[in-house]
Amino acid sequence: MKTLIIFGHSNWAESRVSANWLKEFTADGSFTIHKLSEQLVNGRYNIEAERKIVEAHDRIVMVFPVIWFGAPAIVQQWLEEVFLYGWAYSADYGPAALKGKDFVLALTAGGAAEGYRIAGMGRNSYPLESYYINWQATASMTGMNFHPMYCLYATMTKQPADFTAAAQKLIGYLKADHLPPVGAL
Ligand SMILES: Cc1cc2nc3c(=O)[nH]c(=O)nc-3n(C[C@H](O)[C@H](O)[C@H](O)COP(=O)(O)O)c2cc1C
Repeated sequence: MKTLIIFGHSNWAESRVSANWLKEFTADGSFTIHKLSEQLVNGRYNIEAERKIVEAHDRIVMVFPVIWFGAPAIVQQWLEEVFLYGWAYSADYGPAALKGKDFVLALTAGGAAEGYRIAGMGRNSYPLESYYINWQATASMTGMNFHPMYCLYATMTKQPADFTAAAQKLIGYLKADHLPPVGAL
């Protein structure tokens, strides 16, 4: 099982959590680490290089901070430039290059877990998974297996030891040969 960890943070100088997770994943040594912020040349991705690295892995993991209940712009841009017709999906909407790969979102959120739990309750109102249903649809359309998301919540109240513990838990989750399917939202 070859696992690609794609880090989508766009402001490493200010990062507490992703910076910690990058160190933990690198130290573990079992994963290919790919920082999107280092791939942009004149504001664009090298599409062929991005596709090649994705194709070479069985499990694709995207790590990024929750930004306005979505993904950082560089992550969205990566999807828009790399996941195109003919490679990511085919004419009959059947799967293409991504078929059969595992896909996992590993997020960090400023909001507390409780605020994301119950529709209409708390500041964030809806389950975190509901904000990322488009990622589940993208995985489905490209033939990837979408697995349960992982999230470290309430990052502002947490300390480096918490980040490390969360990273180790995530690393354990990602090392399993088989990941569970997602439940219904
Ligand atoms: C512009 C901006 C928007 C954000 N939007 C959200 C949000 O919608 N929900 C949330 O829970 N946290 C939000 N946050 C908090 C970040 O998710 C949090 O600071 C980040 O995950 C911490 O990781 P880091 O230390 O690696 O940056 C936002 C932060 C910024 C800067």
